[in-house]
Amino acid sequence: MSEDSFVAGIDVGTTKICTIIGRPHSDGRLEVVGVGLTPSAGLRRGIIVDREDAIATIGESIEIAQRQAETEIARAHVGVTGAHISSVNITGRTNVAPGPAISENDVQRAVQSARDAVPLPQDREIIHEVVRSFTVDGEGDVTRPLGMSGRRLDVELHAVTGTANIVANVERCVADAGVEVGRRVLEPIATGTAIITEAERDLGVILVDVGGGTSDVAVFIHGSIAHTSAIPVGGNHITRDIARLLRVGFDEAEKLKCRFGRALPEGVPEDESVQVMLADGKRSEHVPLRLVAEIIEPRLEEIFTLVRGNVVRSGKYEQASAGVVLSGGGSQLPGTTNIASRVLDDLPTRVGMSRGIIGLVDAVSSPVHSTAVGLAMLAGQEGSTAQPETMDDIGFVERIARWWERILPRA
Ligand SMILES: Nc1ncnc2c1ncn2[C@@H]1O[C@H](COP(=O)(O)OP(=O)(O)OP(=O)(O)O)[C@@H](O)[C@H]1O
Ligand SMILES: [Mg+2]
Repeated sequence: MSEDSFVAGIDVGTTKICTIIGRPHSDGRLEVVGVGLTPSAGLRRGIIVDREDAIATIGESIEIAQRQAETEIARAHVGVTGAHISSVNITGRTNVAPGPAISENDVQRAVQSARDAVPLPQDREIIHEVVRSFTVDGEGDVTRPLGMSGRRLDVELHAVTGTANIVANVERCVADAGVEVGRRVLEPIATGTAIITEAERDLGVILVDVGGGTSDVAVFIHGSIAHTSAIPVGGNHITRDIARLLRVGFDEAEKLKCRFGRALPEGVPEDESVQVMLADGKRSEHVPLRLVAEIIEPRLEEIFTLVRGNVVRSGKYEQASAGVVLSGGGSQLPGTTNIASRVLDDLPTRVGMSRGIIGLVDAVSSPVHSTAVGLAMLAGQEGSTAQPETMDDIGFVERIARWWERILPRA
């Protein structure tokens, strides 16, 4: 792909739509040339509840990014998430057909047998899959089985399932806003691409994207995704708690949270306060900022407690030795990393910043942009004719996954 080619990612979030247009460079970096951020309408917890509103705001976000990039995009990678998703690691097996070596057909059969083993109630489908590794005649961690000799081929597949209609509705809205869906990508995978280092991915790391309606969880181990899930609690719950307890409107509570909110009450001086307008629109009141932090803290604790339980149940918690990386708008309250670390057994915790980008770097520096940046990066990497040294920067299982995603029909 030449540096004149543009790629795009669209994050259709509960609170905002973010479109990123970029130009992939041959050294593997993405030059960000257009950013369109609009508040979303017509979505709740990742689900379209008003199609017309959703199409209009998606279109607006695309338009803003296009104007800035001075180009039009035909296609984009689109993020998929929501409380409906769940994941499973499953093994598929096939006997290698007679012949000198393992062929593409053998590999396809092994993957298909893994797919067939994914438990799928009627309304659900596999919305994303990643090949984690192969085993040839009992020898594991094989990266490229093609051309090897062997009689039995096993594949370990990470399969993410979701409600088919929910995913189709998001994709149809993007298409109706005028952009073809190049590929759907599970959002935490996109976010991880933007903010997680190769070393963290190899060691084992938990990614938590605290969004508006949901908090996405992903665990990367040995270089690839090992667990994905979404918890139906996010930053909007914090805003609603503030609104309810202080008797102010949602917008006033949101402003108060984003401007003055802190996650740890003990660091807030007792005499600090701000004036807020009450829900009746007539009276205002002084609210101590320590009280605001006292409202925020338990909800963040709840989010990370749910994350902990979710990852423990997946059996991957003990393997996350590189710690925790936070993302999403809800990770921006000062002190959030402290709460995450406290709940997650003192694991080292940081807020992730997008890496490997040039161009409009400052315009995408907030954690709310990371998912869309990752989507555009993946679009660039998949279409790119990157040099071998660039590919070496990428984990081997990721390479298999990309190879697969190129040769497999989209699930
Ligand atoms: N500066 C800030 N401080 C605290 N919270 C913030 C800040 N900026 C945004 N938020 C919160 O982040 C949340 C939105 O985050 P984000 O943009 O990542 O969500 P989304 O992608 O739209 O939602 P989802 O991923 O759930 O679909 C909102 O609850 C918002 O209040
Ligand atoms: Mg999001």
